[in-house]
Amino acid sequence: MAVDENQIACFSDSAARAAATIVETVKEDGLIYVFSHLDADGISAAGIIGKMLARLDAKFRIQVTQWINDKTVSEILSEKPQLIVFSDLGSGYIDFINDKLATFKTVILDHHQIIGEEKDNIVQVNPHVHGIDGARDISGAGVAYFVAKAIDKVNIDLAPVAVVGALGDLQDKYDQRLLGGVNEKIVEDATSAGLLTVEKDLIFFGRETRPIHRTLASTTNPFIPGISGEEDKSLAFLASLGIKPRDGEKWRALRDLSDEEKKRLCSALADYLFSKGLRYEVTNLIGHVYTLNNEEPWTPIRDAREFAVLLNATGRMDKPSLGVAVCMGDRGSALEASNKVLEDYRRAISKYLGWVMEKPERMKELENIYVIYGESFINDKIVGAISSILSASLPNPEKPLIAYANVEEEGLAKISARTMDTMTNKGINLAEVMQVAAGKLQGKGGGHNVAAGAQVPMESIGTFIQIVNELIGKQLKGEKIGS
Ligand code: C5P
Ligand code: ZN
Repeated sequence: MAVDENQIACFSDSAARAAATIVETVKEDGLIYVFSHLDADGISAAGIIGKMLARLDAKFRIQVTQWINDKTVSEILSEKPQLIVFSDLGSGYIDFINDKLATFKTVILDHHQIIGEEKDNIVQVNPHVHGIDGARDISGAGVAYFVAKAIDKVNIDLAPVAVVGALGDLQDKYDQRLLGGVNEKIVEDATSAGLLTVEKDLIFFGRETRPIHRTLASTTNPFIPGISGEEDKSLAFLASLGIKPRDGEKWRALRDLSDEEKKRLCSALADYLFSKGLRYEVTNLIGHVYTLNNEEPWTPIRDAREFAVLLNATGRMDKPSLGVAVCMGDRGSALEASNKVLEDYRRAISKYLGWVMEKPERMKELENIYVIYGESFINDKIVGAISSILSASLPNPEKPLIAYANVEEEGLAKISARTMDTMTNKGINLAEVMQVAAGKLQGKGGGHNVAAGAQVPMESIGTFIQIVNELIGKQLKGEKIGS
């Protein structure tokens, strides 16, 4: 779906209104309290806002959080900020904010589906208001970027961070993994400033940091049977093509291949996939690669997709301030510590994936959905990543997946739901399902049509799963499920 210039103009106007509210608060020397979402997009957004406020010499505080709840309200009440900024979250909580924070001047910079109608103390910037698809055409970091740019053009140097946020939210849904819609404008800003290069290339993850055979072995998109998951076979495959895996002592990464070597590798992989009858996967070998020109080669922040995973790791492993600092420009201690966190995160993910696969009762197939019973084993901050990874390789890819984990200290179950893009054409809207099902059980749910979440009291999880199973069935039959 292309975005038209009128929509972008209206959206930009609302970003300018939010910008004016922020500048006004800074002029009054008021405290600005920023709450941003815990994932890669939310952390990118927090970094953009943080840098923009630092440049204004503003008084501010940033907190990265998984959700807005009574704890958030008590923190706000004790700090008494002159302005609250909710970033990459907020639009799903408008009734709550109206109810509990009515006396605070508030800016919401979000791209999630809107639930409720804001009162006059709130300035909301959200692409959905202007008919722009927030699930794929602009991310939370993109919304923050528009506001930062409206405040001062100097913030155009933050455009690459907004690109990282959009890729973190998997918005590269246009042909050959291209960012489109409003994101295209942000990419243009970044490339015009010489900060970003976009090229079509082999799309495998890890192009800057992983030895080539590991990049091939770890790929799930495209999935290459006989090579995915098999490092030895990947090495042998490279050898058969005369591609050297090392340069002296150093393993070569995909970035180090010459154009001729890349062509050789690509056509050999294409032949191989064809021979296995996997025509569709051949089209997935090449995609748009986003490279941050000013970052050091061979580091995880040179490739925008690897950068997003690094940020996600800091958030999910309870170290989001490291990710925010990196987005604000720290290339010293915060980056070094983030790299360590990334290793821990990878270990945690593989531990959880192994755990799910170990026993059949940990992942079940119901009539309309798959369910992963993460309970107290999977960390509630990581269950979303597990849901995303496993949803890409389901026996029946048309069935949505929900995974949950308990948040013992809050007495809640945290649920993460995922489905394929094409299911939205068949009537599936997971944000709506999460909202309606959680709403029936004193919980809270929302998000995007293909990726949504909820939290419900722990004792209600069984009923919640049943309700979700039924609601998905209704959506597939074209029935309305609205509350
Ligand atoms: O937590 P998870 O990654 O599964 O969330 C998927 C999406 O749904 C995220 O964009 C998240 O912000 C959103 N969400 C929401 N309301 C909730 C839980 C998740 O809008 N209660
Ligand atoms: Zn987001």
